Amino acid sequence: MGTDPRLEQLRKLKEQARLGGGLDRIQKQHERGRLTARERLHLLLDENSFHELDPFVLHRTSDFGMADKQILGDGVMTGYGTIDGHLVFVYAQDFTVFGGSLGEAHAGKIIKIMDLAMKNGAPLIGLNDSGGARIQEGVLSLAGYAEIFWRNTMASGVVPQISAILGPCAGGAVYSPAITDFVIMVQGTSHMFVTGPEVVRTAMHEETTFEELGGATVHATKSGVAHFLAPNEEECLLTIRRLLSYLPSNNLEDPPRTQPRDDPLRMEIDLDSIVPENPNKPYDMKEVIRLIVDDGEFLEVHEHFAQSLIVGFARLNGRSVGIVAQQPQVLAGVLDIDSSVKGARFVRFCDAFNIPLITLEDVPGFLPGLAQEHGGIIRHGAKLLYAYCEATVPKITVVIRKAYGGAYDVMSSKHVRGDMNYAWPSAELAVMGPQAAVNIIFKDEIENASDPEAAREQLVHEYREKFANPYVAAARGFIDDVIEPRETRPKLISALEMLQNKRDKLPPKKHGNIPL
Ligand code: HXC
Repeated sequence: MGTDPRLEQLRKLKEQARLGGGLDRIQKQHERGRLTARERLHLLLDENSFHELDPFVLHRTSDFGMADKQILGDGVMTGYGTIDGHLVFVYAQDFTVFGGSLGEAHAGKIIKIMDLAMKNGAPLIGLNDSGGARIQEGVLSLAGYAEIFWRNTMASGVVPQISAILGPCAGGAVYSPAITDFVIMVQGTSHMFVTGPEVVRTAMHEETTFEELGGATVHATKSGVAHFLAPNEEECLLTIRRLLSYLPSNNLEDPPRTQPRDDPLRMEIDLDSIVPENPNKPYDMKEVIRLIVDDGEFLEVHEHFAQSLIVGFARLNGRSVGIVAQQPQVLAGVLDIDSSVKGARFVRFCDAFNIPLITLEDVPGFLPGLAQEHGGIIRHGAKLLYAYCEATVPKITVVIRKAYGGAYDVMSSKHVRGDMNYAWPSAELAVMGPQAAVNIIFKDEIENASDPEAAREQLVHEYREKFANPYVAAARGFIDDVIEPRETRPKLISALEMLQNKRDKLPPKKHGNIPL
């Protein structure tokens, strides 16, 4: 008995859908160092876990000769699968079909899986590779984008949303990734911009290139649009898998807990000598993080952007934590416009998804100067302050060294409801550093002294003795305990366990008004 012709037809159609825009275009995609939508999904998802939806969808346009150009699936693969056994919804645009451009039907497929992700409380992953709004479909494609933006916004804080940029991403199309929680770009092959180099030349008389205007490096280092920079597509897709391993599927769940291998009671003697005696000398905060967290594993977010602040995910005794830490090696760990915004967004993400915050503090204050003031450091610094004030997840702080001025208040201090606030003996909690303080409050004494320099030195010494330590704050209970650096890991793990059932609420409101 031969095969049922209806089955044969189905298989033939599926095979046709599999080829997207055809072998020539697939080859072109490969020649450019890019994978096809199907290959990407294969790498992203657990083996054989992908279930495709809507492979037979076709566009409904007849203008501009489109009636004769019909390709099954309409340039985007959508469906669901698993990552490390957890359900995810995913779309992957297929550049081989009309340049991955988004029309009504294409958008409809994405919208369908966005709705499913929301109903089922699972992360949404977008693999973007598209020429933007499908020009032949006019306002229908703009409507499709807006429907996606609206759903991205509704899903924000409900399910994690991750956008990989694997090719062009132009015009308003950039705003869907921008609303999502994390954007990952691939070096050399992905671009994001509101208007391309040609429009920039015409409108602004500026000469630029795709790479200079919106390449991965630019967005990972300068604009902060990209949270992760991957050297190739494989790494990019792997980063999504790693990132999800720290996250819950939705805002009502706790993050996944892994079986810890690292000893929770591990004392780390190297931490005792990591802070130099000279308070003006830098050290590497990433080394501090590595020595504290499980197996030294840290997934840094925004690694190349606003590097005076470090943010990222790690585990402590198998529990996911979000780490926010100053980097004394960059601008002495100062808070500036970019680092404040970077920190604020990360804190809000962690708070939305029940991920406790660990703050490792060594901050000399906010960056002074015309550029910062005119750029709005007041407004932007307030974002980080607001984010910490608003966060109700467990907040644990360790003051490693400097905690000066407003930045002391901001960085998860007791006063903005830090749950556990520890300090190392090297901590200095004060309104400002000894030099600056003495120059202000003893101005006259110094000027009138027979040896002003000697007088200044003596006063700095006295100020340092009095304030540059953790004990004044500890005497008030602003610091819960002063701990030996080596015991930081066990202390943090114990505090996290103690806080695991923490309940805290915000007053009822429609939403706050974070200073944007
Ligand atoms: C329809 C498109 C398309 C689009 C590309 N294609 N972009 N079809 N609508 N927006 C088609 C091409 O006609 C071509 O079809 C195929 O995709 C591959 O495109 P190429 O140009 O050959 O590829 P390449 O040289 O790699 O250039 C890629 C590109 C370029 C840089 C993306 O195609 C381009 O500039 N496209 C237009 C980008 C753009 O301006 N989009 C609108 C942005 S405004 P064939 O059949 O020849 O293979 C926007 C508004 C969103 O998106 C609003 C939301 C609010």
